[in-house]
Amino acid sequence: MAQTKSTILVTGGAGYIGSHAVLALQQAGYEVIVLDNLVYGHREIAEEVLKVELIVGDTTDRSLLDSLFASRNITAVMHFAAYAYVGESVTDPAKYYHNNFVGTLTLLEAMLAASIKTFVFSSTCATYGVPTTVPIPEDHPQNPINPYGASKLMIERVLQDFSTAYDFKSVCFRYFNAAGADPEGRLGEDHNPETHILPLVLLTALGKRESVSIFGTDYPTPDGTCVRDYIHVADLAQAHVLGLEYLLKGGESTVFNLGNGNGFSVQQVIDTARQLTGREIKAIECDRRAGDPPALVGGSDRAKNVLGWNPQYADLSTIIAHAWSWHQKRHR
Ligand SMILES: NC(=O)c1ccc[n+]([C@@H]2O[C@H](COP(=O)([O-])OP(=O)(O)OC[C@H]3O[C@@H](n4cnc5c(N)ncnc54)[C@H](O)[C@@H]3O)[C@@H](O)[C@H]2O)c1
Repeated sequence: MAQTKSTILVTGGAGYIGSHAVLALQQAGYEVIVLDNLVYGHREIAEEVLKVELIVGDTTDRSLLDSLFASRNITAVMHFAAYAYVGESVTDPAKYYHNNFVGTLTLLEAMLAASIKTFVFSSTCATYGVPTTVPIPEDHPQNPINPYGASKLMIERVLQDFSTAYDFKSVCFRYFNAAGADPEGRLGEDHNPETHILPLVLLTALGKRESVSIFGTDYPTPDGTCVRDYIHVADLAQAHVLGLEYLLKGGESTVFNLGNGNGFSVQQVIDTARQLTGREIKAIECDRRAGDPPALVGGSDRAKNVLGWNPQYADLSTIIAHAWSWHQKRHR
């Protein structure tokens, strides 16, 4: 392990992507503190697998943040903490604006008060809305079609203004579909409720679910099912370390897509999972869902060129194989 560098606060570090980022930071030699309210996070992942200091608390709690920043020498914050259920954001927008917007603004204000001005933010391709060009470049118009995407876009705007007014430096990463698991099997994806396609497919393979639904088979895509960009969670985590180091070296505030650049259809995901697992995986064809664009694929050349990001696991089979080995272990 590299010599210990500075201390990074990771909010949402007991969740799926945050936990993989904690591991990548630890491997790069950083000291990490996790702040997570454990609404969706896993205590045992933080304490037993990552063996990281876990503060159970909420980003909306200003006094907790003030005492944390006053008592610890924190250099930068990586902010994963958010609620991310798109459908729920439509039926309960207050919950999303409160947590994702107010919670993040509270964190940013506490950082400013403590003169901590380096921030890496989990944004999303949902800020683009329905794309007019694919692959989607970073300068594509942002017109989110749900409160979840809107709550993330509002923070992107806040960060632009903070950068201008307060010299507050941030990297916003707009992820496409995070997928896969730690290649060494230590961490994986365990959302509850689960809405992501790959875990749903693998839970079906394990017999934990009866079937997986395919929403729409008549899209203008090669096999009629939706095409999405699956980016390996370990590659996402690596990009966060690079984004942090870019800022620590004096980089200007900026935005990067993080995707694979290759789209894979829902049918391809199911077929590849059938091959890899050797299981039947019952799939049921259903009507389209409102608001699902036919294809969402990101152009991530900027992250490659500016950060030197070099995704290691772009291949769908590898992404599924890593997720499968973790799911088998988790549900043994
Ligand atoms: N999973 C994806 O494909 C994807 C795609 C685009 C963007 N994102 C973004 O990435 C981030 C991480 O997503 P994930 O899939 O790992 O979700 P997750 O639910 O597994 O992780 C989020 C974590 O944040 C915690 N949390 C939520 N609100 C909090 C608060 N106010 N204070 C403290 N902790 C809080 C939860 O308990 C959870 O552990 C989110 O910001 C999400 O919007 C995810």
